[in-house]
Amino acid sequence: MIQIRKANLKDIPFITTIFRDTIMHVNAKDYSEKQIRVWASGALDIDKWEDRIENSYFIVAELNDSIVGFAYLSNGNYFDGLFIHKDHLRKGFGIKLMRIIESQALAKGHEVIKADVSITALPFFEDQYYIVEKKQKKNYKGLAFEIFKVYKEL
Ligand SMILES: CC(C)(COP(=O)(O)OP(=O)(O)OC[C@H]1O[C@@H](n2cnc3c(N)ncnc32)[C@H](O)[C@@H]1OP(=O)(O)O)[C@@H](O)C(=O)NCCC(=O)NCCS
Repeated sequence: MIQIRKANLKDIPFITTIFRDTIMHVNAKDYSEKQIRVWASGALDIDKWEDRIENSYFIVAELNDSIVGFAYLSNGNYFDGLFIHKDHLRKGFGIKLMRIIESQALAKGHEVIKADVSITALPFFEDQYYIVEKKQKKNYKGLAFEIFKVYKEL
């Protein structure tokens, strides 16, 4: 049974391992080797992960007491991140986390949720009725990444 709960600081090693491995194994097909290396190195920015857990709405999905995915919402309605373990894709965990993130934005009084999504995740977001506002380059650690600005009316 999948269980969703709020993240805490002790989860950071598991969260960052999923972040790095998913980027290296799943997103790798859509970005260059250099982009993947730089993006995955974000796993080492522990201060940032602490800040995200403490200051955003950050949830994890657990299967048999192991974290298999996570998602977080910043500034009330910015869907800031969603990652599922490479060995647990297409089991409905991404949708479960998305629904809870959307419910939280709605509960905080927002009628629209926004996100900047990867090329890899775009088909998933479109499948869940997110609309592409524009395609753009986002700068991360001095490197340009192609992403899609999307939104959905809740
Ligand atoms: C995008 C992501 C979160 C989806 O998670 P998931 O748990 O595999 O998704 P689900 O199992 O909940 O998918 C539900 C439905 O969404 C659609 N879907 C999911 N992944 C898809 C894909 N890669 N391509 C097309 N449709 C997809 C399908 O309709 C799927 O239903 P189905 O499996 O019955 O066909 C996951 O692939 C991931 O972590 N990707 C890499 C990280 C990433 O880029 N995250 C976003 C950062 S911006």
